Amino acid sequence: MKDSVASATASAPGTVCVTGAAGFIGSWLVMRLLERGYIVRATVRDPANLKKVKHLLDLPKADTNLTLWKADLNEEGSFDEAIEGCSGVFHVATPMDFESKDPENEVIKPTINGVLSIIRSCTKAKTVKRLVFTSSAGTVNVQEHQQPVFDENNWSDLDFINKKKMTGWMYFVSKTLAEKAAWEAAKENNIDFISIIPTLVVGPFIMPTFPPSLITALSPITRNEGHYSIIKQGQFVHLDDLCESHIFLYERPQAEGRYICSSHDATIHDLAKLMREKWPEYNVPTEFKGIDKDLPVVSFSSKKLIGMGFEFKYSLEDMFRGAIDTCREKGLLPHSFAENPVNGNKV
Ligand SMILES: NC(=O)c1ccc[n+]([C@@H]2O[C@H](COP(=O)([O-])OP(=O)(O)OC[C@H]3O[C@@H](n4cnc5c(N)ncnc54)[C@H](OP(=O)(O)O)[C@@H]3O)[C@@H](O)[C@H]2O)c1
Repeated sequence: MKDSVASATASAPGTVCVTGAAGFIGSWLVMRLLERGYIVRATVRDPANLKKVKHLLDLPKADTNLTLWKADLNEEGSFDEAIEGCSGVFHVATPMDFESKDPENEVIKPTINGVLSIIRSCTKAKTVKRLVFTSSAGTVNVQEHQQPVFDENNWSDLDFINKKKMTGWMYFVSKTLAEKAAWEAAKENNIDFISIIPTLVVGPFIMPTFPPSLITALSPITRNEGHYSIIKQGQFVHLDDLCESHIFLYERPQAEGRYICSSHDATIHDLAKLMREKWPEYNVPTEFKGIDKDLPVVSFSSKKLIGMGFEFKYSLEDMFRGAIDTCREKGLLPHSFAENPVNGNKV
């Protein structure tokens, strides 16, 4: 099986399917794949909704090398057609609604059933040489006690998550159960499956709306207090580094198992310091309610990925500069906050 990945990628790049292609990560990945000469089948839930897909259709080489396919994680067999004939699949799609009123049916079930349905589509297709799953740091370190360093052997504590029900709990549960179920199903069906575990993804972007991960990453600027716990002791990766790592691992026949993809660790205080220095116009606070002043950094190790020869290109400042500049250009973030954006008090 692995030799076939080598032969598929050594010559022409071939045809690949990207799920969740209109999203923050999916759209950047599609752009990089098209640049490399891949033929890309991009799945979205509503290909007719130009507001949601125009940024894909406008990409260089889209007119010749990109097609849009309608598919939904809630519908068994929905990805069959898009995947049939592909040599690779990047499964990026996931429901990410932290405010969901029905987390079981809107977030958890579609995530688990969706990846299992995609594995079945790969089995039916018989052409897929590798399935790359975009997992999440939420499958690794959501535990009562933080370790100084996490790696691919760690898994989040589902009992703790279900007890604590912290912001994003349903997303952490959905990704953990989905990745575990996928490992079993891939093994049973003899599918070459690898997972990539990004930490918080930050950077410039091409999707038209405010990306879900930037709600968290930019929370010190927007004072979205519910998200502080996620970046209290945070880890970060640039969107471009993450997408490059997807292609890099897809093209390496020897890749196997899980791969953490994370380049920087920073506490919320480190981040706030960077923001105050580089963007003083947002008046980012120096203290965060309920968060200790002295917090140790918690690190995610990308040793396994780097050991394969992958190199990260971007700094933490690059990530936030890219994200803030793009949000400003698209009119998604004001250029300054003279008042606290939440309570209207002067800062
Ligand atoms: N961003 C991060 O910081 C981060 C960190 C770790 C892991 N990840 C992982 O990266 C992946 C992409 O995240 P993202 O940041 O790019 O989020 P995103 O912008 O919300 O993209 C997710 C995409 O999933 C699609 N989707 C949602 N529900 C679906 C359903 N029921 N059926 C089919 N498609 C559905 C949406 O497609 P439509 O266009 O059809 O609405 C959306 O474009 C996810 O798997 C996430 O777990 C992200």
